[in-house]
Amino acid sequence: MQIRPMTIGDYDEVFAMWQITSRRALSKADERGQIERYLKRNEGMSQVAVTDGKIVGTVLAGHDGRRGFIHHMAVLPEYRRRHIGRKLAEKAIEKITADGIDKTHIFCYRTNEAGQKFWSDFGFEKRGDIYIFSYNNKD
Ligand SMILES: CC(C)(COP(=O)(O)OP(=O)(O)OC[C@H]1O[C@@H](n2cnc3c(N)ncnc32)[C@H](O)[C@@H]1OP(=O)(O)O)[C@@H](O)C(=O)NCCC(=O)NCCS
Repeated sequence: MQIRPMTIGDYDEVFAMWQITSRRALSKADERGQIERYLKRNEGMSQVAVTDGKIVGTVLAGHDGRRGFIHHMAVLPEYRRRHIGRKLAEKAIEKITADGIDKTHIFCYRTNEAGQKFWSDFGFEKRGDIYIFSYNNKD
């Protein structure tokens, strides 16, 4: 298994993978043009895990100059519990940290118990003091 930076050339395979792993979290922000822009803005930070030439895991990683953010942390079901997710998250955080950012946030659905366990076991602190407020800039 190899972990390497995601490129826009991976998009079709990654998007097909997200249909299996991350459907609920997908939005217009995951269309090709938006992902291309994201990868350019956060060069080398997002990662894929590759086994026998097949993408089996993804993590989108970036920062806004102040805090790091991770999205679409995902591993195909048949490859789970082999620490692929952990290695992807470690690499993403390594890249964010190398840019001088000292804290990273993730968003996780309240009903996603496996996701919460994964992030807690990794060392993320589950915050009880903050709500996320979201605003649609365009309808
Ligand atoms: C969450 C996800 C990425 C974990 O990927 P993974 O490669 O299976 O995770 P790892 O093997 O690296 O797990 C590392 C540790 O996290 C914890 N963990 C991971 N999955 C878990 C689960 N289903 N239940 C309980 N603990 C879990 C364990 O402590 C595990 O270590 P261990 O296997 O030695 O006990 C994967 O389950 C997934 O793709 N889920 C669907 C997408 C998703 O919900 N992503 C998170 C969005 S917030």
